[in-house]
Amino acid sequence: MAIISNCNASIIKDAALALKQGHLVAFPTETVYGLGADATNEKAVARIYEVKGRPTDHPLIVHISSMELMDKWASEIPEFAIKLARAFWPGPMTLVLKRTEIAKDFITGGQDTVAIRVPSHTLANQFLKEFESLGGYGVVAPSANRFGKVSPTNSQAVEEELSNFLSENDQILDGGQSQIGIESTIIDCTKDIPIILRPGIITSEMIESFLSIDLTKLDLESNKIMVPGLLEAHYSPNARVILNGIPQPGDGFIALADIPTPTGTVRLASPKDNTGYAYCIYNALRLADSIGIKTVQVIPPVQQGVGIAINNRLIKAAKKISI
Ligand code: TXA
Ligand code: MG
Repeated sequence: MAIISNCNASIIKDAALALKQGHLVAFPTETVYGLGADATNEKAVARIYEVKGRPTDHPLIVHISSMELMDKWASEIPEFAIKLARAFWPGPMTLVLKRTEIAKDFITGGQDTVAIRVPSHTLANQFLKEFESLGGYGVVAPSANRFGKVSPTNSQAVEEELSNFLSENDQILDGGQSQIGIESTIIDCTKDIPIILRPGIITSEMIESFLSIDLTKLDLESNKIMVPGLLEAHYSPNARVILNGIPQPGDGFIALADIPTPTGTVRLASPKDNTGYAYCIYNALRLADSIGIKTVQVIPPVQQGVGIAINNRLIKAAKKISI
């Protein structure tokens, strides 16, 4: 298992074939890198859970090359979901819909719904198309990190996370740095209105203005859907992450560019705006670990627009998982 760079048509074909034969292929998307398996191959999917160290009741997202293939996986697709798909696919949005027969318990964690996404990254799209041309229906791909850890946004980060767990016939495709940097917005489309389960770059304001509706806030208590991204702790580096704390010399420091670096701290990122914040946040957390920083002080952006998704990830990164 090695990183495969300069992915041309023949490399992509080989990768699609490996996937069809039941191997795992990590591939780039515009959000973060995913660890792919044939969504209809129970054994291959079981390996995803093993490699990630992820509990099997946490469902996976099925990736397809085009919204035309949506009804293979989803039934009862409401009008608003079609509108969202037309507006934001290919792109950083995942829709949760009632599942069809081919979406088995081993990808949905036993739920009667399935999560679907059409990524926009060119390499991801070509890879999915190639897989579909071999008779594949869809590719399940969780973020290519160990469970609870920081999602990878480049192929080296995937290698760091998973090389000890992947086998010789698995592959990591290199497609450069993920341009968005945080995971897709997940929208539950099984109720009368869309409900955002995981905030992302496609914001509630964008959805509200596009559909001309008011979105009620997600009631976490009554929401029984298992979403690891909704667990309190997630996206955590080894370093301790502290939000709005008092920086000490030797700490790492992450904040928007207009906030000065406190004396003695190591500046890990200075994004200019929220889009830049999303783009660099996971790399900055990884950088802290790679240079041995023990504590990272973060000034999160304002809770507005994309700032909501960034705060969501930072708050979870600041809590340690205890399992
Ligand atoms: O941007 C992304 O979404 C990336 C790239 C690789 O596409 N993928 C990703 O997958 O973030 P993962 O597995 O790390 O996170 C997917 C989230 C999980 O929190 C999972 O619980 C939720 O999607 N999910 C999957 N199926 C679901 C379902 N049927 N209902 C509710 N949530 C679901
Ligand atoms: Mg993940």
